[in-house]
Amino acid sequence: MPFGTVQLNDGNKMPVIAFGTGSKWKGQDVTDYVSEAIEAGFSHLDTAQFYRNEDSVGAAIRQTGLSRSELFVTTKWSGLTSIRDAVESSLAQLDLKQVDLYLIHNPAFIKDLEKDWKEFERIREDGLSRSIGVSNFDITLLRNLLQTAHIKPAVNQILLHPYNYAENKELLQYCAEQGIVVEAYSSLTPITRYPGGPVVKALRGPARRLGASPVQILLSWVKAKGAVIVTTSSTREHMDEYLAVGDLPDLTDDEIAAIDAAGAKGLPSYQMGDRLCIFFLCFQVICLLLLLHVCGWIHVPFFA
Ligand SMILES: NC(=O)c1ccc[n+]([C@@H]2O[C@H](COP(=O)([O-])OP(=O)(O)OC[C@H]3O[C@@H](n4cnc5c(N)ncnc54)[C@H](OP(=O)(O)O)[C@@H]3O)[C@@H](O)[C@H]2O)c1
Repeated sequence: MPFGTVQLNDGNKMPVIAFGTGSKWKGQDVTDYVSEAIEAGFSHLDTAQFYRNEDSVGAAIRQTGLSRSELFVTTKWSGLTSIRDAVESSLAQLDLKQVDLYLIHNPAFIKDLEKDWKEFERIREDGLSRSIGVSNFDITLLRNLLQTAHIKPAVNQILLHPYNYAENKELLQYCAEQGIVVEAYSSLTPITRYPGGPVVKALRGPARRLGASPVQILLSWVKAKGAVIVTTSSTREHMDEYLAVGDLPDLTDDEIAAIDAAGAKGLPSYQMGDRLCIFFLCFQVICLLLLLHVCGWIHVPFFA
């Protein structure tokens, strides 16, 4: 089955795979890539004030022959201006009257959580965004927010991949309990940044079984965790590859557990770093013992 939609806690529906215009696209004209993504089948676009390319996302939307209701557009307040100014500027650049989802990009931009969220609630009430949510929020922040919120965030967009899954497990659980949909960004990190790591090895078995690519298995893993995928690409080949994940059979519980276990081993660079630390520590101890032995303060038979 191709990727479908998920129902948000406010009743709106959101496509479960999004094409992002952040990361490597910041400050760049993404018109052609967004047009290509829409042509490939993406109907959910993810942008932000901080990405400085909302105007080109708007240009791509105008170029499509699709009606507004066929696209789901997310943008974010990135703290560069007041919330109201930011949403109005985003709408002007996107050339839209309303976005589908408006997010607090990062808690670092919040001055007063209660007041800022009230401003978000007004944005929804005024019809500037159909849904409102947050990004990069931990459990403590979500709990604080829910104490005073009249409207629950519909979404929490977070960094999620197998190497940080263990530390996010409780957050995923909490969001599920609260009816907050988790969106996962940069989930391809094990492949793009740590290609030799244990997670990539754990992807090989399921990739063979399903005749799929490691990228597709990683995105299937995100799906298995109940999260919405936020990814991106500069090539039609990769866009098609991502979208084809919707047609793959589910991973088995054992395959998911094996990927979780590989992720729990930690980032490959940390593992290498740990090994180097241990090596240098041993080296320093041996040098110290040798020095003490040479000075005659201790007798180490090994050096005799
Ligand atoms: N809320 C936040 O704070 C936040 C933070 C970061 C990102 N985001 C959102 O998430 C979106 C996606 O972030 P991301 O780019 O980090 O996502 P990602 O899904 O982890 O990575 C996408 C990248 O993977 C590359 N890729 C695909 N297949 C590959 C392969 N087989 N080997 C090597 N590389 C491969 C793509 O390159 P090609 O161009 O070659 O296909 C693309 O640049 C952003 O655009 C943004 O919208 C949000």
